[in-house]
Amino acid sequence: MSSRTITRRVRGIPTSDGAGVKLTRVIGQPGLDSLDPFLLLDEFGSDSATDYIAGFPDHPHRGFETVTYMLDGRMRHRDNHGHSGLLESGSVQWMTAGRGIVHSEMPEQEHGLMRGFQLWVNLAAKDKMTQPRYQDIAPERIPAVEPAPGAKVRVIAGEVFGVRGPVDGIAIAPVYLDIALQSGAKLSVPLPEAHNAFAYVFEGDAVRVGTETLGLRELGVLSNGETIELSVSADAPAARVLLVAGRPLNEPVARYGPFVMNTPQQIVQAMQDYQAGKF
Ligand code: FE2
Repeated sequence: MSSRTITRRVRGIPTSDGAGVKLTRVIGQPGLDSLDPFLLLDEFGSDSATDYIAGFPDHPHRGFETVTYMLDGRMRHRDNHGHSGLLESGSVQWMTAGRGIVHSEMPEQEHGLMRGFQLWVNLAAKDKMTQPRYQDIAPERIPAVEPAPGAKVRVIAGEVFGVRGPVDGIAIAPVYLDIALQSGAKLSVPLPEAHNAFAYVFEGDAVRVGTETLGLRELGVLSNGETIELSVSADAPAARVLLVAGRPLNEPVARYGPFVMNTPQQIVQAMQDYQAGKF
């Protein structure tokens, strides 16, 4: 069995988006422009309302998917096709923007902790203009498994340890896992060998990947391979890792803000369609 190793390390940069929400951009910044098929990874987390209260008022998306994983807090989602949903602590929304939506993502709380991730997943050329689709997944629909002592895995997408996550019908066959490791825990996680993958430590001090160490708020881009060996030393605090993998598209990417297509002409078309109210 070939074990994956860290080929590149990245730390996020502080930025703000929407109407002034403070966040850390881990993928989609100069240190890591993208990791095919992943275009962006934002981590948000604050118990200060001024950091998130302005939210993300109406904005468009075309040509890709946004995946929001709420760890803490409540966010209201509403789009121009009449779809609305509440993202609560522990829930996931896998939104396929496809040919285009205009939506808002606004905090439904005025105080308290708001914490989570948004990942952007690219769509293949043949799927970019598909109908928009939502998978709103409540926390109780996300199975958790304890495959080793001190290791707990929430399976959001993909199949590991005989458990299948609730997200379905996504062309890049994603694996999206939230892995909690107690001090001294060890876990070998199988992944599709040729998928691109990353691990991001978001709680604790450090997690070992094979013989290397990934620090808190550090993302490790992983080599190809059939497994990843994760562990936390006995004298280190418990840790939590986001482990995400997807089949690379290997297609040209033309990107401008919330539009991700294959050619510059398609970007111009997207802007024209948006301005003409065709989303
Ligand atoms: Fe959005």
